[in-house]
Order: sequence, then structure tokens, then C-alpha cells
Amino acid sequence: MNPDLEKLHPYPFQKISELKKGVKAADKPLISLAIGEPKHATPKIILDALTENLTGIANYPLTKGSKELREAIANWLTNRFHLPANSLNPETNVIPVTGTREALFSFAQAVIDRKKNQATILMPNPFYQIYEGAAFLAGAKPVYLACTKETNFNPDFDTVSKQTWDDCQLIYLCSPGNPTGAVIPEEQIKQLLNLSEKHNFIIASDECYSEIYFDENNPPIGLLEVAAKQGNTDYKRCVVFHSLSKRSNAPGMRSGFVAGDAQILEKFLLYRTYHGCAMPPPTQAASIVAWQDENHVLDNRNQYREKFDAVLNLLSPVINVQMPDASFYLWADVGMDDKIFTQEIYKHENVNVVPGSYLSRTVDGNNPGENRIRMALVATLDECTEAANRIVNYVEKYR
Ligand SMILES: Cc1ncc(COP(=O)(O)O)c(C=O)c1O
Repeated sequence: MNPDLEKLHPYPFQKISELKKGVKAADKPLISLAIGEPKHATPKIILDALTENLTGIANYPLTKGSKELREAIANWLTNRFHLPANSLNPETNVIPVTGTREALFSFAQAVIDRKKNQATILMPNPFYQIYEGAAFLAGAKPVYLACTKETNFNPDFDTVSKQTWDDCQLIYLCSPGNPTGAVIPEEQIKQLLNLSEKHNFIIASDECYSEIYFDENNPPIGLLEVAAKQGNTDYKRCVVFHSLSKRSNAPGMRSGFVAGDAQILEKFLLYRTYHGCAMPPPTQAASIVAWQDENHVLDNRNQYREKFDAVLNLLSPVINVQMPDASFYLWADVGMDDKIFTQEIYKHENVNVVPGSYLSRTVDGNNPGENRIRMALVATLDECTEAANRIVNYVEKYR
């Protein structure tokens, strides 16, 4: 067997099952704020497009996807992130992927040169665990960049040594962040773009929460947008990852895309030809419809806004929790051991949350997720409100 498999950490949900073993939950209906799986209805236009194109399964799809899909994606990206007209060529700058999870993982396998000294991948801490697994299986060393309250929950690039930048072949960004909801500001992205030019590493920006935000006049900025503003309209060393899972409530459809540097994507496409993750034709047709419509995305955001308002009104007087910049997560400081809090809230209130330390790694004795929990406001407004009331109840009664 591949010995690098031994390096993989158990997934957070596996650890939560262990944590809850032998603990009896309160006799109330379970409410889960644990898994970041969108629960709002998948828009009818997407479902209709899927069923209307079912005959497409008679054909093998191209790894590169259809021209129509790549054009729809390039148009969406250009409009959403104010990119210069025609700076994205749908032939060379865009590849559809079957969800960003597989793409974030396979991207590292394609771009890392494991024979180079200390192949290194930088990533935020806390993080989406796929980045770390991708690093291990690509034969690279993961370097975790602490995202704490002091750093506004974003990586502080000033803390990275010159040697580490020299060894760095790839950095994963997650903006808006899972689990923190933090959006990396333009100035910091500019700083990273300058570093990537100087030290020649690739920036992989996971932007799959970019469409879940609260201020309609201030959507999260993206990597390609900042690159273009700096004059990097070839998007050299930049690749972004987007998904319909959260934007369009279609996590089961497995549809997303990568876009950016044509030279990198050419090699990634070659890798993917062997990887064998072409998007099924009905999914491609439904994805075109989804990327061309913003009404359902606005409706989606409105539903999250309502839930954040209701839940924060209830929670903020009793625990340390703030509105995130974006995303559907609350990253609360519970002022006690996060694993015990998770166990207790399950035992007394039958609410599932994720202990922050399960989403982070301990570096130099510090774990940025310690004493924090992640709550995904994916359930209905009523369920989220009920969960918040139960958390308030627990905190007031037992702490
Ligand atoms: C930060 C982040 N990136 C990527 C993904 C993967 O999403 P998908 O594969 O559905 O596009 C998730 C899913 O939860 C996520 O939280």
C-alpha cells in the first residue's frame, strides 16, 4: 500500500462519532449544525435541466466539458469578479470539475514536484481537511498558517520564513473561509501575488463560499479579480475553485470548475484525462443553467441572512460569536474545551456541532480551533432558531 495513506488524519466527522460514543443524547429531536451540507431546496430550473437532458448519458463526456459550459463559466466569472473582457479564454482558462473537493485534491497531485527539496504546500489553519490530505498524498509537507482572532482569521503571510517561501510550490487559500467565514482582504491577496511572483509558487484559491454573503453591495473579492487589477491578466500562477454546491444548493450534483493560468490548467487537464473525472452530460447542461441565473442565488442569500439574524440575536448575549464576513458558518468562542462543549450540547440538548480543534492542527503547542465550535446554519430557520435556543439554555443552566 501507499505508505503516505498512513499520514491521513481521520475526518472530523469520524472523530465526532468517537467523541459521542457512549454518550446518550437528550430526548429531543436531533438538530445538526455540524455538516456543511446546504439544505435549501435545489432550484427547479436546475432539476428541470437535469431531467430534460438525461439522454446525454448515452455519450462519454469530454474531460474538458462542453464548450457551452466553459463559456457559461467564463461569462459568470468575468461578470462576478469584474475581469477584463475576454481575459478568460473558455478553451484554455476554464475546466469543469466534479465538485471542488476532488479538484482541490487532484490539483496538488498534478502540480507538485515531489523530487524537489522539501516540496511544501501552505494552507490555512483551521482548514478544509482535503488540503492536508492532498499535500500528504502528493508527497509534500503541509505548513499550517494560523488564522486566529489576532490575524482577523486570515493567514498572516509575514510570519512565513524566506526558506518556507522558497520551498513552497503551492498555497491553498480559502476565502470566504471554512470554518471562520473570513474573507481575505485585497491588500493581503496583493501581498501574496507579489510573493508568488518572487518565489514562483502557485496560488489555489478555494472560493466555493464566495456567493454566500450578506451585503449585496459588497460581495467577497476573488483572487483573479485582484490579479487582473495588478495587471496579471494572464492569471499567471493563479487558479480559483468554484462550486455549485453551496451557491446553488446542489451538493449532490457534483459540479464546479477551476479557472486561471492556462499553462497550469493544460497540465491539470492532462492529469484529469487519466484521473477520469469528466462531468456527466446532464450535469453539464444543468450547470449551464445554474451559472446563468442569479435569482436563485439571491434568494439563497436572503434565507441565510434571516437565519444569521435570528441565531446571532439569541447567541451573542451568552457566547462570544460574531457575524462572519461571509459563508454559512459561525465560528464561536465557547470559552471552554470545545470537545467537552460538543459532547455536552449533544447530551443535554441533542444539537450537533463541530469542535474547532478537529478542524485545526496544533503547531508549536497552539491549536487555533481550541475553545471554538463551528456551527453551519444550513437547517431551516425554525431548526436553527431552536438549536440556538437550546444552546442558550445549556450555557445558562450548566456553565
Ligand atoms: C472549503 C471547502 N472547499 C471545498 C468544499 C467541497 O465542495 P464541493 O466538492 O461540493 O464543491 C467544501 C465542502 O464542504 C468546503 O467547505
